[in-house]
Amino acid sequence: MPRKAVPGIGCIMKLVAVNGSPRKDGNTSAMLKEIVALAEKKGIETKFYNLVDMHVADCKGCQNCKTNQTCAQRDDMSQVIEAIQESEFVLLGSPVYMGDETGLMKCMADRLYCLLAPGDGSKEFKTRLAPGKRVMLLMTCGMANGDKLYNYILTRYFRLLVKLLEFDDYHSYIIGGVEPNMDVRKMVQAKGALEEADRYLTV
Ligand SMILES: Cc1cc2nc3c(=O)[nH]c(=O)nc-3n(C[C@H](O)[C@H](O)[C@H](O)COP(=O)(O)O)c2cc1C
Repeated sequence: MPRKAVPGIGCIMKLVAVNGSPRKDGNTSAMLKEIVALAEKKGIETKFYNLVDMHVADCKGCQNCKTNQTCAQRDDMSQVIEAIQESEFVLLGSPVYMGDETGLMKCMADRLYCLLAPGDGSKEFKTRLAPGKRVMLLMTCGMANGDKLYNYILTRYFRLLVKLLEFDDYHSYIIGGVEPNMDVRKMVQAKGALEEADRYLTV
């Protein structure tokens, strides 16, 4: 059953965008910035993180977060976790690299493990996130049929973000046929991503 998502009247809503592309001015980043601009037009306060500029180490699998509630590692992931906890909207972006998200994005996703508390008998984990959060995963890739070809990535993130972390609302979009020297914003496929983003940002 979905958990209740009702922002308080007069509260400013927040969005955190996390770019998993190593190219800070690349196509994934350009699309994330378009969505961030759309959010700002709707009065949403935004933050933007480029993982390539941050020090986010691999999860060590130490399980400290299961007994002590927090990650034992003190690196830039603390900022990302804090921003996710404070935000109603989480926007994740990654290009497809070798058939998956980038290593930067996967490393960040592994560290979200600290947001899972041990579950009770019926569930292995329960989320430490407050209810009412919405998430969007935006991907770009070179293959023209990438939206179909890489759908399994979206399914995998659905399990992580909705089934485990209990985000209330999950939107995802893959823009295919994107070459590095192109401006993705001028491609017809960008329109579909922005329409999806508009649905994501409409509470
Ligand atoms: C190392 C590497 C691996 C890639 N692997 C794939 C792939 O498996 N499938 C695909 O469709 N595109 C692949 N691409 C193309 C990128 O996903 C595509 O150009 C993307 O839009 C780049 O995003 P960016 O501008 O944010 O860097 C790859 C690009 C690089 C650099």
